[in-house]
Amino acid sequence: LDVTMQSRPQLLRQSRSRYSAELVYLYGGHVTSWKDEHGDELLFVSNKAIFKPPKAIRGGIPICFPQFSNFGNLEQHGFARNRVWTIDTDPPPFPVPTTNTAYIDLILKPTEEDLKIWPHSFEYRLRVALSPGGDLMLTSRIRNTNADGKPFSFTFAYHTYFKISDISEVRVEGLETLDYLDNLQDRARFTEQGDAIVFESELDRIYLGTPSKIAIIDHEKKRTFVVRKGGLPDAVVWNPWDKKAKAMSDFGDDEYKRMVCVEAAAIEKPVTLKPGEEWTGKLELSAVPSSYYSGQ
Ligand code: BG6
Repeated sequence: LDVTMQSRPQLLRQSRSRYSAELVYLYGGHVTSWKDEHGDELLFVSNKAIFKPPKAIRGGIPICFPQFSNFGNLEQHGFARNRVWTIDTDPPPFPVPTTNTAYIDLILKPTEEDLKIWPHSFEYRLRVALSPGGDLMLTSRIRNTNADGKPFSFTFAYHTYFKISDISEVRVEGLETLDYLDNLQDRARFTEQGDAIVFESELDRIYLGTPSKIAIIDHEKKRTFVVRKGGLPDAVVWNPWDKKAKAMSDFGDDEYKRMVCVEAAAIEKPVTLKPGEEWTGKLELSAVPSSYYSGQ
């Protein structure tokens, strides 16, 4: 495949309102831009990001499938984020409202090479949609198309990088009192004690069985991101901080101050699909002035 084709993003515009373009790369089925009504970017993408194979784009919304992190024998975060997807011209009806919604449909099927490393046939349909009010909605439908009668299991995450003004001024609400696995301590299990998550050093945790709504409050910008999720019980919260930032070749040394990842995920209990079965995982993102956000 021609690299320039892979690298060319698809634009999605909401013609009925001022909310504008998302860029969706066929490489990774990857959303890299989501803007508010003033044209301000809401997703973080590194200045050092590389928009072509073999590594995933650093920022936006990488899709981790069929494996989150190293929970299995596949490459880190699975292969979907560094495969070239295609536009799905004939999608089945999706369980999301389409009235006045701008959307694009993508599909990923395994290649012969993929089947050697993960011997399961699947169809992964992704709809990326922008509502008239500017909400960004991703719906994933994964179907087991194995002809051999075998089920398969996977773990999953929408690895969303939110753009924030200052990591030291950010709070993540909705995960208090929950159990989490700490990736920085051999995935030992702890219970969250704080009334919100704040950031003072590297943080890399998998919160388990979370509510369907999580808020990221950017104090300086007076903006709150609201994450709503369906079919995805867990939530990863990640900031690499300075040392890890320096170790990543596609990430600026100081960029950790301007990003936080809050990832709707299914990790602790892998999803299992029998042949013919389909799973749906939804992500809905809104950005609202903090004064409008009641926490309910
Ligand atoms: C997070 C993980 O989801 O992704 C971290 O919890 C990891 O442990 C991070 O460092 C980035 O992963 P990658 O493969 O995109 O560099």
